[in-house]
Formats: sequence, C-alpha cells, structure tokens
Amino acid sequence: ETYRIAVFVGSLRKESYNLKTAKVLMALAPDSLSLDLVRIADLPMFNEDLEDNPPQEWLDLREQIQAADGLLFLTPEYNRSVPGALKNALDIGSRPYGKNSWNGKPGAVVSVSIGNISGFGANHHLRQSLVFVNVPTMAQPEAYLGDAAALFDEAGNLTNDSTKEFLRTFMEAYGKWVATNAKQRTA
Ligand code: FNR
Repeated sequence: ETYRIAVFVGSLRKESYNLKTAKVLMALAPDSLSLDLVRIADLPMFNEDLEDNPPQEWLDLREQIQAADGLLFLTPEYNRSVPGALKNALDIGSRPYGKNSWNGKPGAVVSVSIGNISGFGANHHLRQSLVFVNVPTMAQPEAYLGDAAALFDEAGNLTNDSTKEFLRTFMEAYGKWVATNAKQRTA
C-alpha cells in the first residue's frame, strides 16, 4: 500500500535549508510513501470573520490535508518558535470549528537551523500545537538539523553521508509510523 504524505515547509524562501531538506527526505523515503509539497506561501491570514465565505486558498489547503494519509513538517526556528506562515497554515487547517482537517493523521517533525540549537524551540512549539489538533506525531527518532549552511552543496545535495543515513533511517521509521497509525482508507 502507498500512503500519501503532505509535506509542509515553514520557510518561504527559495534557498531555504528546510526546503532543501524536504527534497532530500522525499528522495530518501521508502516506496510506501508518496510525498507532495503543500504550498503555504499564499494563504490569507486566518481570520474567523472570513469563515462564512472562506478564501479559496483556505478551502484548497483543507482539501489537500484531508486527501493526505500523513503529514511531514519541516520548520525553521524564528525567534525560538514556529514561523508565522506555518502557524497560519495550522490554524486554517484546524477550522471551521468542529472540522479539523488535521485530525488523526500521523505526523513527523524535522527542524533545520543554521544555528547549533538546531531549531529545538520551533520543533517543540510545533509539537505542542500538533497535540491539540490531534496529530499523532512520531516521538523517535527526533530530527534536529543544526549548522545547516554546511550541510548542502550548491546543487542541494547533502555534503556528508552520516546525515543522509540518519535521514533515511528517519523516513523508514516514519513510514512504519504511518502504516501503524493511518486511518483505514474508505475508497
Ligand atoms: C531566524 N533564525 C533563527 N535561528 C535559530 O536557530 N533560532 C532562532 O530563534 C532564529 N530566529 C530567527 C528569526 C527570524 C525572523 C529569521 C529570519 C531567522 C535563523 C534561521 O535559522 C535561518 O534564517 C534559517 O536559514 C531559516 O531556515 P531556512 O529559511 O533556511 O529554511
């Protein structure tokens, strides 16, 4: 069986290390996972007043989440927390009240930072929100990638094999997590 995984990257910039890491993870993933990047850059800011007539971008996001069997999050750390763009996507997907699109979908979190605390603060703030939206998030292995500027060559390939092997192991564990926790497909 193949599971569809929606991939969310918390950085919007083209040369993002989180985006580069996402691409590596997509290439290393086991065959049981089919991964697609979800665009969060153009989502209008969440505002409950718009819920009566929601922006099309919100509806599209909710549909993409609902169509997924699992969720993979890559986040930078902005001021020791999750970037606003990613939090905005989380909030939009959790509403309208009573229709939480994230509900029950097995997740995993990777944080990537140019610093040496490796996005720990963002990683765990994200986990806090994922608890509330009921995303069963893989506990181990954790993935904190620090010193990210040294991890990639110009083409976006990893510069060292140990990181690559770690990320392969991470995706294998996530594949098992998804197989164990994914809801039975109905169609
Ligand atoms: C940062 N950065 C950062 N890094 C970190 O380790 N802890 C932090 O709290 C912050 N805070 C922060 C705030 C803002 C507004 C910016 C723009 C940056 C640095 C951050 O790790 C770096 O820019 C990464 O390269 C961001 O990830 P991407 O864009 O490469 O994926």
